[in-house]
Amino acid sequence: MPNFVTVANVNDVKKGKVKTFQVNGHRIALCNVEGTFFATQDLCTHDGGPLGEGELWGYDIECPRHGGRFDVRTGQVTALPPILPIKTFPVRVEGDAIQVALD
Ligand code: FES
Repeated sequence: MPNFVTVANVNDVKKGKVKTFQVNGHRIALCNVEGTFFATQDLCTHDGGPLGEGELWGYDIECPRHGGRFDVRTGQVTALPPILPIKTFPVRVEGDAIQVALD
């Protein structure tokens, strides 16, 4: 069973926005795409850019450093220069709490 940890309140991340949270030593970028939450690692696989400070374009998160993009549902690269995918984490909402399962 995945171990879900509360990272934020549903009101903490507005629609179309990303915020970064620190959970158990992991830096997580929490994304709100039309009311559905997705969690990815905060670090870009290209050159360590802070993804949580990037912008969301639909399901894509754009790295603020060189404009690389990743699909927040799968972690797959959708725009270069990154080549390697980012890690994604399962998310669930319990009441007002956004919970993420870390490994
Ligand atoms: S560090 Fe993210 S695109 Fe270069």
